[in-house]
Amino acid sequence: MSENNIQSVLHENRLFPPSEEFKATATLSADKLAELYAHADRDHEDFWATQARTEIDWQTPFTTTLDSSNAPFYRWFPDGKLNVSYNCLDRQLEKNADKKAIIFEGDAGDVEEITYRELHSRVCIFANALKAQNISKGDRVIIYMPMIAEAVIAMQACARIGAIHSVVFGGFSASSLKDRIEDTQAKMVITADGGHRGGRIIELKSTTDSALEIGCNSIENVIVFKRTGHDVAMKPDRDVWWHNAILNQSAECEPEWMNATDPLFLLYTSGSTGKPKGIQHSTGGYLLNAITTMRWVFDIQDSDVFWCTADVGWITGHTYVAYGPLATGATIVIFEGVPTYPDAGRFWDMCQRHAVTIFYTAPTAIRALIKQGDEIPNNYDLSKLRLLGTVGEPINPEAWMWYHTVIGKEKCPIVDTWWQTETGAHMLAPVPGVTVTKPGSCTKALPGIDAAIVDQEGNEITTANEGGYLVIRKPWPSMIQTVWGDDNRYKEAYWPYFDGKYYLAGDSARRDEDGLFWIMGRIDDVLNVSGHRLGTMEIESALVSNPLVAEAAIVGKPHDIKGESVFAFVVLKGDRPKGGIDDELTQTLRTWVGNEIGAIAKPDEIRYADNLPKTRSGKIMRRLLRTIAKGEEITSDTSTLENESILPQLQGKV
Ligand code: PRX
Repeated sequence: MSENNIQSVLHENRLFPPSEEFKATATLSADKLAELYAHADRDHEDFWATQARTEIDWQTPFTTTLDSSNAPFYRWFPDGKLNVSYNCLDRQLEKNADKKAIIFEGDAGDVEEITYRELHSRVCIFANALKAQNISKGDRVIIYMPMIAEAVIAMQACARIGAIHSVVFGGFSASSLKDRIEDTQAKMVITADGGHRGGRIIELKSTTDSALEIGCNSIENVIVFKRTGHDVAMKPDRDVWWHNAILNQSAECEPEWMNATDPLFLLYTSGSTGKPKGIQHSTGGYLLNAITTMRWVFDIQDSDVFWCTADVGWITGHTYVAYGPLATGATIVIFEGVPTYPDAGRFWDMCQRHAVTIFYTAPTAIRALIKQGDEIPNNYDLSKLRLLGTVGEPINPEAWMWYHTVIGKEKCPIVDTWWQTETGAHMLAPVPGVTVTKPGSCTKALPGIDAAIVDQEGNEITTANEGGYLVIRKPWPSMIQTVWGDDNRYKEAYWPYFDGKYYLAGDSARRDEDGLFWIMGRIDDVLNVSGHRLGTMEIESALVSNPLVAEAAIVGKPHDIKGESVFAFVVLKGDRPKGGIDDELTQTLRTWVGNEIGAIAKPDEIRYADNLPKTRSGKIMRRLLRTIAKGEEITSDTSTLENESILPQLQGKV
C-alpha cells in the first residue's frame, strides 16, 4: 500500500432525482428499498437466503446459507443444487416461450431474432454436440468467438452440462489465448472462422491455430462456427464445423444439476503481476446477484429491450448479456460491430430500430461519441429509452451530462455501476427509481453489500471526501471463489490486510458529504484503458521479451477518450535513439505487444532512455514517470533518485 497520497480533486454538487414518470413504473420504490436494507442489516445471511429462495429455481433447496469455515474461501448455499441454463431458459418456457430472447445484429446490419423457445432448443442441441465431443461436467472449454448469438449459446450450453467455460476476448492474441488454454488445461476451443468488425474480418480460427501450434496439449477438439465464410484451414481429427457437430443432435438435454459452489466459469483479468488471474465464479451465488442487480439496478420489466454493449469476453458481457437478462426473461440486443460503423450513429440507429429501453455502455464509448457532435443522436428517435447505465471506469461529469441530456433527454436516470470481474455483479450503484444521483458518483452500496472506505489500519474513514481503500466487509453471493489453481494468490491479492477480514477491491474511493461513493482510481499497478483492465507488469514483460529491449516501465497517461492510455519508457540493449524517439522502432514494439497480448495493450507512446528512474534500493519511481508522461513539471523531491541525470532523457528533452 505505497503511494497512499489519495487526494480528491473533484467536486460535483448537481443532484438528479428520478422523475415522477420513472418512479411511477419503477419496481423498487423507496419503501421497498428501505425494507431490503433493513432486512440485510438485521440479518445478512437471512437476507440473501430469502433472495436466493425467491429468485432461483433450485433442484435441491439449500439448507445452509453460508459456509465461512474456510474463510476467505466463502461458500454460499453449499448444499443447494441448480442449473444456470435451466434458470435462464427452461423456466421461461411456460410464460415467455414466444418472447424474443435475443435480437442479434451483425456488423453489416443483418438481423436475427431468437425466441426463448428457439434459444432453449439451440442451446440443448449444442449442449448435446459438446457431449458428443467428449465434454462433460467439470471440463474446461475455451470460447473464442465474435460477439454473435452463438457465443451466448456456447456459454449457456457449457452451463447446461456443467462444463466450465472461459471466454477469451476476440481481440486477444494467439499468445494470450495459449496462456489461458494452458492455465485452464481446457479440452476444447469453441471459435469461429472469424468475425466482422467495422467492415473488416477479425481472424479467429487462424489465431486459434497459431495458439495451438505453440502449445496447448490439453486441447482435443476445436469447434468452428462459420460466420464469415472466408477460407480457413481445418485440421482433420481435431477441428469440426459447428454445423456438422450439431447434425442429428436432439433438442432435449437434461440439465446437469450442479452444486451451488461448483465453478460456472473462469474469466482471466489483469492484476499487479505479469500473469493474468483466472477468476473463478460459482454457480448459485453468481446467478443470484446477476438476477438481483437486473431487478434493483436495471429495474428490468417484461416489456424492456435491454442492450448491454459489452463483449462476452469481459465480465460485463457475462453477467449482463449471457446470464442476468436471460435469467430474468428479458429481451436482449447483441451487436457484433463497433459504434462508429458504418457511421457514428450506429448505436442510436440500433436503439431506434430495436426500440431499446435500457442501454448500458462504457464511458469511453460515450466520450468517443460526444466528439462526433449532437446532431448525430438528434437524428434518431430515442424516445423508447427509459434508463441508461455506465460501467468500467469513472465517468467524468461532462460525459455524464451529455449522456443525460442528449441521449436520455433529461428523463432517463443514469445508473453508474461500480463492480469488478471479481465481484461478479454490481456492488455500488443507484437504484434508479429511488436514488438521487450526482454526475460521476456510483452513489451507494446495494442492499446486502457492506462497502466501506478504510485507512491503512482498516479503520473506517468517516470524514467526508477523505480518500481511502475501498473494501467489502461481509461476503456476498457472487464473490470470486478463488484464483484458478492458485489459492494463495487469491488470498494475497484480495485479503492481504486487515487480518484478512475485508475484501480489498484494489480501488481508492471517497464518500462525499451526502455519503455517496466516488471511485478515485486503482491503488495497484493496473491501468484502465477504455474500461479494460491492463496490468503494467504484463505489458512490461511483453516488451522485455523483445530481443531489443533491456528494461521497460509502463504508466497510464490521462486520455480524453480512453480514460487512460499506455505510455512506455524503454531502455534498449543497444544504443538509445537520438532524442529518445524512433518512430520505426516504436511501430515494431507496438506490433510486438499486439502479438504478445492484444491490440488494446499497445503503447500509444514510447520514450527511450539509457536508464529508468530508480531509488537507491532499485525501485522504479512510477509516480515520477506518471508526471513525466503527462508532460507536467516535476515538483516532487528527486534527490532519492539514483540517477538524477536521466530526467532530461525521460522528459524527451535530449
Ligand atoms: O477500477 C474499477 C473500474 O474497473 C475495475 C474493474 O475492472 P474489471 O474487472 O475489468 O471490470 C470492469 C467491469 C465491471 C474496478 O476496480 N471500474 C469499474 N466500474 C467502475 C469503475 N470505476 C469507476 N466507476 C465505475 N462505475
